[in-house]
Amino acid sequence: MSDLANDVPAIEMHKVCKAFGRKTVLLNLDLAIRSGETYAILGGSGSGKSVCLKHMNGLLRPDSGHVRIDGVDITHLSESALIDVRKSCGMLFQSGALFDSLSVFENVAYPLREHLKLSKAELAERVKECLAAVGLSSSQSLMPSELSGGMRKRVGLARVIALQPKTILYDEPTTGLDPGNSRRIGKLIRSLQERLRVTSVVVTHDLELCFAIADRIGLLKDGAMVSSGSVGEMRDSTHPVVRAFLRGDQDASLDEIESS
Ligand SMILES: Nc1ncnc2c1ncn2[C@@H]1O[C@H](COP(=O)(O)OP(=O)(O)OP(=O)(O)O)[C@@H](O)[C@H]1O
Ligand SMILES: [Mg+2]
Repeated sequence: MSDLANDVPAIEMHKVCKAFGRKTVLLNLDLAIRSGETYAILGGSGSGKSVCLKHMNGLLRPDSGHVRIDGVDITHLSESALIDVRKSCGMLFQSGALFDSLSVFENVAYPLREHLKLSKAELAERVKECLAAVGLSSSQSLMPSELSGGMRKRVGLARVIALQPKTILYDEPTTGLDPGNSRRIGKLIRSLQERLRVTSVVVTHDLELCFAIADRIGLLKDGAMVSSGSVGEMRDSTHPVVRAFLRGDQDASLDEIESS
């Protein structure tokens, strides 16, 4: 690959604005995520993290600005053209979003049946591989109601990786999990990135997870990334909003921070 090709971000948001009614959520947001990196988006509750993530696979469209995936502008793509984008860009929803009436096996098989024409044996093999990758080989006949929160997240992740995406978007992958399960999910995110070379974008409140898995971190506030850098740079940052966020004062405004 030429140097030029390496310079094209896997995901790029350029001056993205998004409002719902009178509420502006994203305001001239700029962001560039490199191919193969794990980028964590931090931000207070309601700061627009999920909205930002949903622009990356066309679930939401900007009011103005552009979203590019591997250099291709997806801002105005038709819904049918977006299907291919979503196939290569899996999203793990906060809830896991499992189908409660389908077994673990059928949940993971679902996108494969939708999008690929595999034989019965190939399908079973792929589902088995994906469940093994998340440590759930022996759970394929269970129903979602029989699973713990951590297991549900892992089945959701097995379903995401079934289509072998180039990019995985994670929305709060550890919320609601105990520390052991959170660490396990963190390790999984990291190992998928290393083994499959996926680009990962992780929206989280969980600073421990963020520092454990991210290559770079961006802090979202007032509709834009107020600061972005490597884990070391963010830890050592003197930026008042970053400092406030890291000490747990997630919703402090810049005015409050500067006057404190
Ligand atoms: N489809 C929608 N319609 C109207 N308002 C929306 C919609 N989606 C998000 N919002 C609003 O946009 C703002 C940002 O929401 P978002 O879900 O991105 O926050 P968040 O940073 O992910 O918060 P949390 O950490 O609580 O998940 C909120 O005020 C929310 O109410
Ligand atoms: Mg959210």
